[in-house]
Amino acid sequence: MDNIQLIILDAQKEIEQVSSKAVLTQIRARYLGKQSPFNSLLSQLKSLPNQQKAEFGKKLNLAKVELNRIFDEKFNFLTDLEIQKKIEEEKIDISLPGYKLERGSKHPCQLIIDQIEDFFLQRGYIVKQGSDVELEKFNFEFLNIPKDHPSRDMQDTFYISDDLLLRSQTSGMQAHTMQEKNGIGPIKMICPGKTYRRDDDRTHSHQFSQCEGLVISEDCNLACLMETLTEFLQFIFGKNRQVRFRPSYFPFTEPSIEADVSCFECNGKGCDLCKHTGWIEVLGAGMVHPNVLRLNGFDSNKYQGFAFGVGIERLAMLKYGVDDIRKFFNNDIAFLKQFSKEN
Ligand code: DAH
Repeated sequence: MDNIQLIILDAQKEIEQVSSKAVLTQIRARYLGKQSPFNSLLSQLKSLPNQQKAEFGKKLNLAKVELNRIFDEKFNFLTDLEIQKKIEEEKIDISLPGYKLERGSKHPCQLIIDQIEDFFLQRGYIVKQGSDVELEKFNFEFLNIPKDHPSRDMQDTFYISDDLLLRSQTSGMQAHTMQEKNGIGPIKMICPGKTYRRDDDRTHSHQFSQCEGLVISEDCNLACLMETLTEFLQFIFGKNRQVRFRPSYFPFTEPSIEADVSCFECNGKGCDLCKHTGWIEVLGAGMVHPNVLRLNGFDSNKYQGFAFGVGIERLAMLKYGVDDIRKFFNNDIAFLKQFSKEN
């Protein structure tokens, strides 16, 4: 066995025993660095006869290449071991209980809006979105409420300028929708949104939400409106609620009606909640006034329509038994949390 082979054998023995990359690097430096035993063999090269020189040089180089390969192999092996160990140590213990995620819940008014949309989308209505800031014309004039009409008193609101205000009702969306359609029906839409009035007590607030509904076609009539509203109110409050209609007045509908549901508390017998009438008023509605059709570009001889407007907080107060409208705006977590099971 020549010296070169002996060096490789020695190195192999050391490499086999080593189990740390740092020590392996030191050994490698010893065998292949400046002080390497191969270098001292190289100095013998000069004294060899010419024809053996090339052969010896070649052997020496091959030996170095081989040794490098052995070192690399062991280095990679030790790296793999390290990774393996790390993976084992880092194992996630899935038996630990997780952290509980705090989950919010939908606001009760949003729950009611979702239910309203559910009901009307199934019946082919579209949902429109208006803006809180409205032109005075759309809030009043296009709805057959000219300037100085006494009904404006009940809907005094916040004016931004003489002709711009915070809308006091979602009914303005009737006018917008009709004008967009350029006199061509049919229309079936609802529009939930915020409204504002000069009001403040347990059941009225300066800010509240309504949902408007409008249907325009050549053949809809009061019976369609009453059927739609009866089904709608029973969808919201349950099949056991009875629904009744009373004549009423709104400038934009003729005839106008109001809908009541039988009292939840006393089931119609009479109690404080229903002011001993057995009924609770829930919404206003009617057949679209021919003036409103004409003012918004529809031929009142060809088309007729019905409309309704319902207070969202009012529905929520009745459905969930809330006694003060201000609770919807106070952001009291204890109050809001009670609705999480409804989500
Ligand atoms: N806008 C009315 C209000 O705020 C509610 C209403 C009544 C809307 C009758 C309608 C309707 O569309 O036909 O009191």
